Amino acid sequence: MKQLLIYLLLSIPLLVLSLQILIFENIVDPIKYIYTVTGATATVILFFSISISLISKKINLLKYRRLIGLFAFFYALLHLLNFIVFDAEFRIIFIIEETFDKPFIYLGMIAFFILLFMSFTSTKSLFKKYKTKHQIIYIALILITIHFIMAQKSLSILQYSYLVMIFILAYYKVLQKINKVNI
Ligand code: HEM
Repeated sequence: MKQLLIYLLLSIPLLVLSLQILIFENIVDPIKYIYTVTGATATVILFFSISISLISKKINLLKYRRLIGLFAFFYALLHLLNFIVFDAEFRIIFIIEETFDKPFIYLGMIAFFILLFMSFTSTKSLFKKYKTKHQIIYIALILITIHFIMAQKSLSILQYSYLVMIFILAYYKVLQKINKVNI
């Protein structure tokens, strides 16, 4: 039941995106819109996935952490496909130039490859071997936050509040790590 709810809830952004672009056709700049929806959704899900252990005494979602993480990767993949298919229109030279010329793009690329590595090594058998390496998620989250800030021309109130939430979450994660070390 919980699993079905997670599937439904995490599919909502994709549903809204598809409806607005394919059915209602009411989006002025669909490429920008796809970047925003897929990028923001992937980021929010990722930050949520690392807060699961913080809230586990109230809501226990530890069993579904992998599924939630894979959803984040799925939205990040759609974000990358938007870049390759709609923005770059498969022009390899454009993709390479943009990646090396714009720091925020290569930071996004590095973050994406970290998520790719984590998704591949999240199966039961591989996770045992690579569990400690999954701490690399924190590097990905830092890169994603910088990528997100650099992609903006100016930050709105919503984006500022989002950043404040990220810093509060980071603070509690650090506290959690320190307490674990002290036990
Ligand atoms: C795979 C390599 C990536 C590429 C090529 C890429 C490309 C872009 C581009 C071009 C924008 C600016 C869109 C615009 O305002 O016109 C953007 C924004 C953004 N990206 Fe990425 N990105 C990548 C990876 C990621 C990843 C892994 C995440 C999160 C998991 C992410 C999250 C975001 C967010 C939140 C924004 C801001 C969206 C907005 O303007 O509202 N990106 N990205």
